[in-house]
Order: sequence, then structure tokens, then C-alpha cells
Amino acid sequence: MATSRTFVDLFLLVSLACGLGSLSAEDLQTTGRSFTIDYENNTFLMDGVPFRYVSGSFHYFRALPETWRTRLRTMRAAGLNAVSTYVNWALHNPKDGIYNFDGMADLEKFINLAQEEGLYVILRPGPYICAEIENGGLPYWLLSKNPDMKARTNDESYTKEVSIWFSQLMPRIQKYLYGNGGPIIMVQVENEYALFSACDKDYMNWLRDEFRKYIKDEAVLFTTDPPSSRLSCSKVEGVYATVDFGATNDINGQWKGQRSVEPKGPLVNSEFYPGWLTHWGEENQRRNADDIVDSFKGIMQTGANVNFYMFFGGTNFGFSAGANAQGSGNYAAHITSYDYDAPMDEAGDPTPKYMKIREAVGQFLELPSIPVPEKAPKMSLPDIQLKPIDLLLSDSGRRNLVTKTVTSDHPQSFEQLDQFSGLVIYEAELPVFQIDPVLLTVNGLADRAIVLVNQTFIGVLSRQNNINSLPINDGFGKTLQIIVENQGRINFAIANDQKGILGSVVVQEADDSKYEIKGWESSSVPLESEQIMKLVEERKDEVVEVNKRGLLLEGPTIYYGEFVISDGDEIYDTYLDPTGWGKGVVFVNGFNLGRYWPNVGPQITLYVPKELLQKGTNKITIVEYQNAPSNGRIRFTSTPQLDGGNSYVTLE
Ligand SMILES: *[C@@H]1O[C@H](CO)[C@@H](O)[C@H](O)[C@H]1NC(C)=O
Ligand SMILES: *[C@@H]1O[C@H](CO)[C@@H](O)[C@H](O)[C@H]1NC(C)=O
Repeated sequence: MATSRTFVDLFLLVSLACGLGSLSAEDLQTTGRSFTIDYENNTFLMDGVPFRYVSGSFHYFRALPETWRTRLRTMRAAGLNAVSTYVNWALHNPKDGIYNFDGMADLEKFINLAQEEGLYVILRPGPYICAEIENGGLPYWLLSKNPDMKARTNDESYTKEVSIWFSQLMPRIQKYLYGNGGPIIMVQVENEYALFSACDKDYMNWLRDEFRKYIKDEAVLFTTDPPSSRLSCSKVEGVYATVDFGATNDINGQWKGQRSVEPKGPLVNSEFYPGWLTHWGEENQRRNADDIVDSFKGIMQTGANVNFYMFFGGTNFGFSAGANAQGSGNYAAHITSYDYDAPMDEAGDPTPKYMKIREAVGQFLELPSIPVPEKAPKMSLPDIQLKPIDLLLSDSGRRNLVTKTVTSDHPQSFEQLDQFSGLVIYEAELPVFQIDPVLLTVNGLADRAIVLVNQTFIGVLSRQNNINSLPINDGFGKTLQIIVENQGRINFAIANDQKGILGSVVVQEADDSKYEIKGWESSSVPLESEQIMKLVEERKDEVVEVNKRGLLLEGPTIYYGEFVISDGDEIYDTYLDPTGWGKGVVFVNGFNLGRYWPNVGPQITLYVPKELLQKGTNKITIVEYQNAPSNGRIRFTSTPQLDGGNSYVTLE
């Protein structure tokens, strides 16, 4: 029976013969450390000794770096001996040729902290990661370069970009591999590829070789897929196949899936779900702690290794939330919180579920002598008065927020404009009306549009709700303005989810008379912090007039306010409560907290980590798309509310 070590040695020889890897003498030096698979005894081996992990997922890109150590320690205190994280390519490579490994993108710091806190690391570099993150972690600009790119296949325009990315990422990772003296024991290849229609084995083999170039045999390569999926699409020689599943009464049935492609070796559940993901417009997805604990114990009794997905979920700050292709419009965006009903909540505090899981973990692994951290204090603040300082469609609004305008026959997509997220303003002239009203139809809308004529609000179109037409009255004027929001690119089973207006815009005057509007100006409004703060600098002392009831009849409006935290006060984490506001994004001291949409819910409050606040003056800026409360106020509260909104009440 070949151990993985002999297989890998063989593989390296073959690789050398094919000129794949270029191994220097240094590479071949051994640290005496090894992490391998014992196929005979169905276990991992660390330095030749049987090893088992109970791990938890925590994505560094969903928490501020200042909070990483505390979060990791809380995980260790639950008895976990490993942390699992995806690597978010889009975060590290925001524009073609531009790389970022600082701040929240400081992956090396995260790995070092994990090691210092006594956790091994399971790294999942994808490059496709799903993860409920924008575009499944693939940078949007891949679609700018080649709109027809077949991501996750052997399409050369894709594999070329993956190679370039790995040549940036992997050299930073190599020294942290277990065999090289670091904490990384496992490295995942692709992500749930068995669920992807392409089933391209050439691609999976190519990707395995690409990983092997850098990882060599210094950590175990593995895949993760649901046990009932087409596992043969994902299984490649030399990569260990594991499975993922949540609470179940049929644990052995799940293992049959893994055994169908991996007859020997350790049992591994790489994603055991203690909670679940949530979309805007549905009930917050909570999962019962006792069911989770029962299944967890059952899994452990089969001798398996387990990773909780998520153990700490965190937050989809900024525009990082993705979406799924489901619902009536085949589109549903994820909420900003990634609390996930995980054992640690969005603020990193242990929940009752955490305590139950910790007790269960203690029945199988030795608990460290690290005390369970207390729930960190939270603060509320007095109401803050905001005022409308500018309209997006005003001269100063455009001057500060529009980064470019392109004139063309057809509307330009976000990708054609080389734009990640935010809004695009589309403007064109309406034809002469033969009837009143006419019906306006926007084909290929992604994802949500505020329609105005001559800067007067007409209505909203929505991909999610499958609504792409509305009537327009004569007499409002001739300039049609459609402001389109990217609500997050689809992350699951990725299929080139481009944004903006992707089809024709048509006016229907009578049954048989359709007129396609041509001659468009497409203006980029990426809503990045830099532009927002520039506008605030120029406009903070101004007030624009809005409708008395707070309805934004002239389009998206920028609100601004300040609040003071005095020297004597402690700063704690808090939650922004946008109740009474419509839909938009909010910046605290220039940091984009993410999207809010309280009337739809279920998420009401946005998590505000204390590191974003300061003694003295703090600035809050809101880009509100729809309506503001008539008093223009907002507040910070000490209690999160993720189970609100009214949208999941079924209308009969
Ligand atoms: C598997 O276990 C048996 C019995 O415990 C032991 O003799 C053998 O060496 C183990 N195999 C490996 C590869 O460690
Ligand atoms: C619409 O705007 C144009 C250009 O600003 C203006 O000439 C026209 O009078 C406006 N129409 C209405 C009905 O307000």
C-alpha cells in the first residue's frame, strides 16, 4: 500500500521529467517535519504520528486585522486545533496587475497569528472560492478582459490569469507550509468542483499541477464536495477527496460518498455547517445548537476530522457580499452580515452554541487552559443628526462621484467601464410619445434600477423581483436616467454575472410599435471611499432640499453627520441601526460598512467594530438610494438585530 509520501515522491520525479517544477537543492532540504496521509490506518500523520483535527472556518477578509488575534484565541479556547480560511483573489488583486497584501489583505499576518495562537492552518486558495463573496472570489476584471471567459475550465484566457495570480500568492505561502516549518497542514484545490457543470478534468489536472509546483509535498492537497455530488468531476490523482455536510441523521451515508472516490484514508468533513447563509428578503437562517452538537459528536465517533463552516463568520464589509442564482428572478443577494448563526457571533463573541460545541469538542480533544473570553461590551450612542449635503445627479455630485463617462450606442456594462461595484448612471433621450403612458422595458438588468425622467423619480426595476418594465407618463421631460446598482455578483456555480444594463432598452408605444433607445451616456459611480470623502470635504456645510417626507424624488442623495466621542468615554463595538432609511451604503470615518436595506431585512443593524471609531469627531456618510426618515436621524445601538424586516411575510 503506497503512502501519500511515496506517491508524492514519485509525482515529483515525474514532474521534474516534464519540466514542471524546478527544484533547487534548498527545496530538497528537509525540516524533518511532515504532514501526510496514512491510507492503511485511515488517518493523517503529523511527523509520522496519527493526527486529527477539529477546525473552524474564519475568513480573514471578513474581520478587521486588529481583531484577528482575539477571534483566533476564542476559537482555540473552544478546543479547536486548526483554522480554515479561503483566500479571496479579488481582494488581493483588485485591478489587473495591482496587488494588495496589506491591512485586511495581510494574509501572512493572519497565518502568523494563527500559529502564535496554537492553531494549524487549512488554506483554501481556490482560486474560485464561492464563500458567498462577490463573484466567488474571482476578480471582476477577468470579465472586462474577456466577457466570454470560461472560468473554472481549461480556457487558456482563464488558466493564464490563475498562473499569474499563483506566481504572486504562492511564494508568500511556501514558508508557512508544515513541511517548511509553518502551520499550514492542508491546501484545498478548487472548491466544490463536483457541483460545477463544466466537469473539466483537464482543468482539474492542470490546477493540481499548478498547486503542486509550489506546495510540493510540504502539505496535503485536498478537494471538498458534497457527498452526493458528481465527485468524479472533482477527484484527481494525488489530491485527497473530502466531503462537506451539515447536521444529519445519516452520517455513514455521507461517508459512503467520500469512500466512493477515496476508499482508504481519513474521513473528513471539510464544511460542517453550524449555521447557514442568508439572503436579503428571507428569514435569517438559524440552526438549532443541539442538532449541531448531536451530529458533531456522531461524526467524531466515526473517527473523522471536522471543520466547522463557519466557526466565526464576520461581515461582508463594503461591496464584498455575493449573490445566488435563485428565487423568482433567479437572483438573490447576500446580506452584509456573515454572522451565519455561527458559534461565535458577528462581533466575535461566544454564543450559547459555542459553549455547547466547546463541551462536545472537550469529549474528543484536550481543551487548552485558555479561558473562554467574556462577551465584549457594546455601546449605544445618542441619535445623530444627518443632513442631505448633495444629490448624486447634481453638478457637484457628479463632479465628485462620477469617475468616467462613456458615450455609445448601447449602454456599457460595469465590466466594459472597468468598474467593480457601486452604481452606473445611464442617460439617453426618450422618443416622442404616441400614447400616454408608454411602457419602458430594460432587458438584461443587473441588478436594480432607479428610473428617473429629467431627474424626477418614476419607479424601481428589480432583477431579484423579476420586474423589468414600468410605465412612463408624457410631460416629465425627455431625459431618461436609469441608475443601476450592482447588488453583488453571483458566487455559486459562477456564470459570468456581469452588471449594469446588458440588453436593449425599449419603449413600447402600442402593441406592435417598439422603439429601441440608442445613444447612451454611461457614467461610473464606484462609490469608493476616496470619492465619498472628497465630496464630504467640499459639501459638508451645504444642505440640499429633499421632499419633506424624506422620499428621494430627485435620485440618490448623500447625507452627512458628525458625532463626538469624548476623551473620558471608552469606545466599544456598536451597531448602526438604519431603521427608517431605505436602501444604500454607509461610511463611518471613510470605511464602507456595507449595504443596508432594513425594510426588506432580515438584517437591520450593521456591525461597527470599535477600531473604526475614535475619540473626538467621527464622520458618518450615507449614500441613500430611496428614502430617508423625515427627521434625518440615525442611531448606534448596543444590540444587533438580524431577524427583522418584513419581506419574508408571505403576501396572500
Ligand atoms: C497502522 O497501524 C498498525 C497497528 O496499529 C501499525 O502496526 C502500522 O505501523 C500502522 N501503519 C502505519 C503506516 O503507520
Ligand atoms: C427637462 O430638462 C430639459 C433640459 O434641462 C429642459 O429643457 C426641459 O424643460 C425639462 N422638461 C421638463 C418637463 O421639466
